[in-house]
Parts: sequence; structure tokens; C-alpha cells
Amino acid sequence: MPKFLTLDDFDVKDKVVLVRVDFNSPVDPQTKKIIDDTRIRAHGETTIKELSERGAKVVVLAHQGRPGDPDFISLEQHAQILGRILGKPVKFVDDVYGERAKNAIRGLKSGEILVLDNVRNFPREAKDAPPEEHAKSDLVANLAPLADLFVNDAFAAAHRSHASIVGFTVLLPSAAGRIMEKELKALSRVMESPEKPCIYILGGAKADDSLRISKYVLDNNIADHVLTAGITGHLFLVARGYDLGKPNMELLEKNKLLDLVPGIKELMDKYPGRIEVPVDLAIEVEGKRKEISVEELPTNYPIYDIGERTIKRYTELIMKAKSIVFSGPPGVFEREEFRKGTKALFEAIASSKAFSLIGGGHSIAAVQSLGLADKMGYISTAGGALIEFLMGRKLPGVVALEEAAKRER
Ligand code: 3PG
Repeated sequence: MPKFLTLDDFDVKDKVVLVRVDFNSPVDPQTKKIIDDTRIRAHGETTIKELSERGAKVVVLAHQGRPGDPDFISLEQHAQILGRILGKPVKFVDDVYGERAKNAIRGLKSGEILVLDNVRNFPREAKDAPPEEHAKSDLVANLAPLADLFVNDAFAAAHRSHASIVGFTVLLPSAAGRIMEKELKALSRVMESPEKPCIYILGGAKADDSLRISKYVLDNNIADHVLTAGITGHLFLVARGYDLGKPNMELLEKNKLLDLVPGIKELMDKYPGRIEVPVDLAIEVEGKRKEISVEELPTNYPIYDIGERTIKRYTELIMKAKSIVFSGPPGVFEREEFRKGTKALFEAIASSKAFSLIGGGHSIAAVQSLGLADKMGYISTAGGALIEFLMGRKLPGVVALEEAAKRER
């Protein structure tokens, strides 16, 4: 577990606290309305609420989308949603580091919450630069003198060495927020000497990420077994020498995934018996589900799920496991006929005694739609940051907090 300070280490009463959260939410491209408030709720109900209740003057910094993209919108809506979640007024100023933002901060009373506008309005925010360089940026140089403490709660954006993530930690006492703490604590349970057996279930379409994660967790003896499914599983089957048939091979080719096959082969040869691939699959024939054994491949029909024998094998491994990571659903769970694999694996995780960590937008949507979210050990709010962490990469936002903690001691 990284060594950083937390909200427990500071008296925040009457202090100006800059809190970097990750409010980045899905937005309807037509109406520009936020369609899922999970992240706003997560930070709101924990860190922001606690700081406000402890009498801090809370200044919220966050990004939404990327300049030029349809979801690059102001944070006014986020502030309104936050107000509804907390059941109290939340102020908003359509400025990030100019005079209006500074005046709004100076005018805050203890316990009040102010949301500044999208930090990515600041042109140099998203420059990939070291903390010391960002500390000299206009954003940090303007806001830091007004604040007493910086809190980074944005685990989901901690893989970015951006100004609002790493810059303030150079100039201000800095702490991790409650979501940052929770995410890292859950991750350490599946990454740092996890209870064994430990399994990683990697489905979904991001096969390149799955390969990197598999390599890291096998090379470092973190996972005993990697269970592949979804597009990831298809690619691992190709590496085993199977021809999946025209529609399926074309999909892999179109997404430029076939280049990964030599690397997968190498990994499978290095760790015999540790990487599971599906033994049967569900294909779509005239709109219906049909299961075939991998020995019946190639098929002219698209593959949309794992089959019953694979479900049985994976369920056995889940039931024996003490630590489980689940990233990426094994099938097209949005369609009733192809939900079986995803449903069965989540039900097995729900009934097992293992600690489980669920990550990735699709996995979260799947577990929520199945009504099993509260039976999981921990559901991460992060996307890219989680993937990078599982690959063993150091996240700049976390490193910056560790450096700040060393300076405080
Ligand atoms: C995310 O949603 O993964 C984070 O908010 C990071 O967003 P970004 O990929 O635009 O930096």
C-alpha cells in the first residue's frame, strides 16, 4: 500500500481545501445531459461531505471530457447534481483560476462547497509534465496561495501527470481523499501478496490490456490462474492454434488484435496450465444462441458468449479462489441470449467467500444490471487508471502524494 497522508492527518476546520475529484461522467451527445452520476455520488457522499461537515471551505476541481469532444462540457450540471446528492447548496463559478474563481474562493464560509469550472479549460492542464513544472503553471500558481491543503481523491485520473493532479502537491500539504484510499486499499488486496488462490478473469474487447495485465500478474506471481473470455478469450484461442471462422477472425483483424498473438503464445508457453481459454462457445444462429465446442471451430457464425462447459470450469476456479479480479464481461450481456456466461460468473463470485474487485465500465454496467453489485467485494470507479495499476505501472497522482508525504514528515 502506498504511503501517503489522509484526511485523518489534518485539522481542516476553517481551512481552504482544494479537492481534485474525478467527476468525468457519460454525457448524452445530443442533450449534453449527464446520464450516470456514479462518480459524482462516490466523491460527494465520502470526501466532499466529510470535509464540509468538518468545517472546511471546500473547493472542488475536476475535468469533464477532452477539449473538442462532445462530452467536453462545463461543470455546472455536476455542481447541481452534487447539491442534490448532498441535500445542500453547492456553489459553482464558470472560471477555473481567474479573478472570479479567486474571489469565489475568498468568499467561502466554513462548510461551504464551491465547484470550479472544467480544469481542462486551462490549456496546459493536460500537458504530460512532471509535478515541478506543473507547479509553476498559471492554474497552480494562482490557486495554491489561496489554499491550506490539497486533497487528491481522483484515483480514476491518477494515471495522468496533469497540472491539477500533480502540481499542487509540490506547494501544499497534500492528502489522499477517501475514494483514493478505498481504491488503493482494494487494489492492494489483489496486487500485493493477495490471499491465494488468486484468479484474474479477463474478458471484454481490450485484449491488448488483458495481455499486459496477464503478463504482469503471472510474472510477479500475483495470479495463480488467468481466465480468459470475450474478445480476449477469442484471441487467446487463436494463439492456441484455433481458427475461429470468418466473421470472428475478421473482427480481430479489423481491431488490429492479431498482432498480439505471438506475445500471447510466448506467455502461454512460459506458464503452462495457468492460463485458461474457453472450451466451448455460444454462437448466434438465426438470432438464437447455439453452443459449440472449440473442437467444432471454425464457425461461420459470430461468437457472443462462453458455453456451459467453460462456465462450469470457471465457476470451479472461482469457488476455490480467495482473491478475484474481474475486468471485462465474457459475453454480450446486453442481449438476453448471450448474458448466460456473464450472469453465471457474477453469481459464482457473489456466492464465493473470496474478496473480489470488479473494474471497467462494461463490467460495472453488467453487474449492476444483474442486481449483484452489492455482493461484490469492491467495484472500482476507475477505467484507464485501474488498467494501468493492474499492469504494475506507478500512477503519477499516487507518486505525487507519496512525495508530498515524505516532505511533511
Ligand atoms: C476516466 O474517465 O478514465 C478518467 O476521468 C480519465 O479521463 P481521460 O482519459 O480523458 O484522461
